[in-house]
Amino acid sequence: MSPGAPSSIAARAAAAAATALAACAEPAAATVCSSGRIVSTSEGADMAPGQICNDCHAYTNAGGDGYQAPIFGFAGTVYRTAHEPDDCAGGALDGGRELPQVVVVSATNQRYVTNLTMGGNFMLELRPTAPPIAFPITAQVRYRGRTHWMVEPVMTGECNSCHTVDGKEGAPGRIRLP
Ligand code: HEC
Ligand code: HEC
Repeated sequence: MSPGAPSSIAARAAAAAATALAACAEPAAATVCSSGRIVSTSEGADMAPGQICNDCHAYTNAGGDGYQAPIFGFAGTVYRTAHEPDDCAGGALDGGRELPQVVVVSATNQRYVTNLTMGGNFMLELRPTAPPIAFPITAQVRYRGRTHWMVEPVMTGECNSCHTVDGKEGAPGRIRLP
C-alpha cells in the first residue's frame, strides 16, 4: 500500500463533505409550472390554483356586490412538482384517465374523500346540516395505487396556506402527486 493512500482518501472524504455542504447551501429549487397553463378566477372549480381559497371567498361574501362563493371544509391544489407558482394549473396532466384523490382524516377518524379537478384543485363543501370537520386533521394524496401521507396533524383545511410555492410552517412546498 502506498503511504500516500490514507491521506488521499481523507482528502477525497473532505472534498465530498464540502460538496454536500455546498448542496445544502444552494437556494430553493427553481419554480416550474408543469402544466404550462396559467388560469384566472373565471374557470369554475379550476379557478385560482395554488391560492388560499377560503380567504378570497370570505372576502367575496363580505363584499356585498351580489357574488357568493362557497366556504370549504378543506381545499387546495395538487401539483406534479414541489415548487409551482400561484395560478398555475396543477393535476395529473394525463387526460384524466384516473383522477387523483385527496383524503382527509379528521380527529374523530371521519374520512373525507375528494377527487382532483382537471386543473388540480380539490375542495370539500359540507352540507349546511353536516357536522363540522373535527380538527386536527391529517391528509393523503392517492394516485395509481401510490400514496403520499401528511403525518403531521394540522389545525386548518386551508391547505395552500402552508403548501405555497416555497412552503410555509415547515411544509416542503406544494402538495405533490405521489
Ligand atoms: C381571488 C379570489 C378567489 C380565489 C383565490 C379563489 N376563488 Fe373560488 N370563487 C371566487 C369568486 C368571486 C366566486 C363566486 C363567483 C363565481 O362563481 O365565479 C368563486 C366561486 C367558486 C366556486 C363555486 C362556483 C363555481 O364557479 O364553480 C368554486 C367551486 C370555487 N370558487 C373554487 C375555488 C378553489 C378550489 C379555490 C382555491 C384553489 C378558489 N376558488 C380560490 C373567487 C376566488
Ligand atoms: C399548518 C401547515 C399545513 C397545512 C394547513 C397543511 N399541510 Fe400538508 N404538510 C405540512 C408539513 C409541515 C408537511 C411535511 C411533514 C409531513 O409530511 O407531515 C406536509 C406534508 C404534506 C404531504 C406529504 C408530502 C408531499 O409532498 O406529498 C401531503 C400529501 C400534504 N401535506 C397534504 C396536505 C393537505 C391535503 C392539506 C389540507 C387538507 C394540507 N397538507 C395542509 C404542513 C401543512
